[in-house]
Amino acid sequence: MEEQLHAIREEALKALEEASTPSDLDQIKVKYLGRKGAVTRILKGLGRLPAEERPRVGKLANEVKRALEKALAARKEDLEKTAPEDRLISGFDPTLPGRRRPYGTLHPITQVMDEIASVFTRMGFSVEEGPEIELDYYNFEALNIPPDHPARDMQDTFYVDDKVLLRTHTSPIQVRTMEKRQPPLRIIAPGKVYRCDSDVTHTPMFHQVEGLMVDTDVSFADLKGVLTLFVHEIFDPETSVRFRPSFFPFTEPSAEVDIQCVMCRGRGCRVCSQTGWLEVLGAGMVHPAVFRHVGYDTEKYSGFAFGLGVERIAMLKYGIDDIRLFYENDVAFLSQF
Ligand code: PHE
Repeated sequence: MEEQLHAIREEALKALEEASTPSDLDQIKVKYLGRKGAVTRILKGLGRLPAEERPRVGKLANEVKRALEKALAARKEDLEKTAPEDRLISGFDPTLPGRRRPYGTLHPITQVMDEIASVFTRMGFSVEEGPEIELDYYNFEALNIPPDHPARDMQDTFYVDDKVLLRTHTSPIQVRTMEKRQPPLRIIAPGKVYRCDSDVTHTPMFHQVEGLMVDTDVSFADLKGVLTLFVHEIFDPETSVRFRPSFFPFTEPSAEVDIQCVMCRGRGCRVCSQTGWLEVLGAGMVHPAVFRHVGYDTEKYSGFAFGLGVERIAMLKYGIDDIRLFYENDVAFLSQF
């Protein structure tokens, strides 16, 4: 019996030496220490030995068992260190929770554009698009801004050549839409626009949403109603709105729309330069010269148009004081939205 135990120990230690994967170790463990393993069987059979042999054999059997257990543990540690591939295959624990991938979110400008579009689509407006690389004709001429008109100075234009430019506003989409379709018309046109300008409130590329409604009997009152409702939906229904006379070559009369300062509620602060008001929109009644360019009957139809800056609305909505934050791709900033 004692000889047998010595032989088992030697054999098992040799097998451990040769084991190269965790599953080899499991097999060795079963073979010697498992319920029907060689060492276990001897321990279970101790009772059948003569009484004077029992303590000696029992002691040796327990020694062998402990030695094998220790050797198994040591070898396991070795293998884990030296063979990570094996561990991945047979030591993989499918019950461990997986590692989550971080979710992205829509860019705040995209979110605000979607929100603006949703307000207008609920009022029956549909969405139109146009090219960012635009003809001078659509960006200026058809909007009643001839080549030497001083209003061209208002917009620092990136020219591609004499006739082609990066659109400086979304208004060319008004003209493109009216060329294709007859009234009644209720559209908005969101998109990127470009101006050679850069500081805390200007980036060379920014976003606008254009609006246009044309029908028989569209009046300035309709313009006021639609834009007031828009401001109340985007900010809150308590926000005061005022229409200030202004000038655009493609609208007459023209207005700029101010809202009560969202930061100080009209009391006067740094954001509103102590005036209590913030300009958010340009608007007006479509100029007859624009209708003539697209062949609309100016006696029959009237309409209003407006244009708003999306970054400006987003900055006011979220209290952001530097427009460049939108375009630095800082995940810490973007993940707040
Ligand atoms: N296109 C004008 C701008 O970018 C805004 C505007 C649009 C004004 C439509 C009136 C009507 O400044």
